[in-house]
Amino acid sequence: MTTPLALAYEERGSGPALVFVHGFPLDRRMWIGQLEGLAKLRRCVALDLRGHGLSVIDDPNPGFSMDLFADDVAATMDELGVEQADICGLSMGGYVAFAFWRRHRARVRSMILCDTKSEADGDEAKAGREKTAQLVREQGMDLLWDQLGPKLLGSNPTEDARAQLHTMFLAQPPAMIAADALAMRDRPDSTQDLGGINVPVLWIHGEEDQLMPIDGARASAEKVSGSTFVAIPGGGHMAPMENPKAANAALSAFLKG
Ligand code: MLT
Repeated sequence: MTTPLALAYEERGSGPALVFVHGFPLDRRMWIGQLEGLAKLRRCVALDLRGHGLSVIDDPNPGFSMDLFADDVAATMDELGVEQADICGLSMGGYVAFAFWRRHRARVRSMILCDTKSEADGDEAKAGREKTAQLVREQGMDLLWDQLGPKLLGSNPTEDARAQLHTMFLAQPPAMIAADALAMRDRPDSTQDLGGINVPVLWIHGEEDQLMPIDGARASAEKVSGSTFVAIPGGGHMAPMENPKAANAALSAFLKG
């Protein structure tokens, strides 16, 4: 069994901890707008999942899973002296948040689920993950950017958001991104967990998310009793990064409540 790892992170602010988990194939820097905007309310901690950003690992062929990522989040909270946190994940980070809920629920004060979904991959999507893993292993990140980059943002992205995303995307080691793809292929369905989530939940979703259309997320949100759903205008799959003002307003209202 792989030992959980205390991850690299960036933090701002003080008070109760709010832990941010990035999506695929990115790193903690996608949350800079939230760290800057929410530091007055929380100790905001943005993590680099293992193999991403500054959480470098020395393994050319790693095996990842959402459970392992969740256990790394718990190990990092131990390192930070944080018993309980608000857990915020985007897309793959949301899959990690669901795994964290299953494995460490006493440590969850609330959940914020951004541009994510509870369903597992179907057969076609699983085959796509294998192609993605092979593509990045053989050709690096550029071709994946060409395929996926345009689908991540809404219809009218700022040049700044596009450039930041591109930089982050190309900075990730292909072997780690291949391992992410296979871990997402193998993730379980979290839909049956939704009805049992008994902490406050906020869903944030870009109105123009092409990868995970907003109606699916609304349907999932309805399965979590008392959860709040906020649609982000102009936001694609990277809604908190694309429209930090609207996302932070939703987060602030939720956290103050
Ligand atoms: C992500 O943004 O993390 C990915 O789009 C998730 C996925 O491919 O399922």
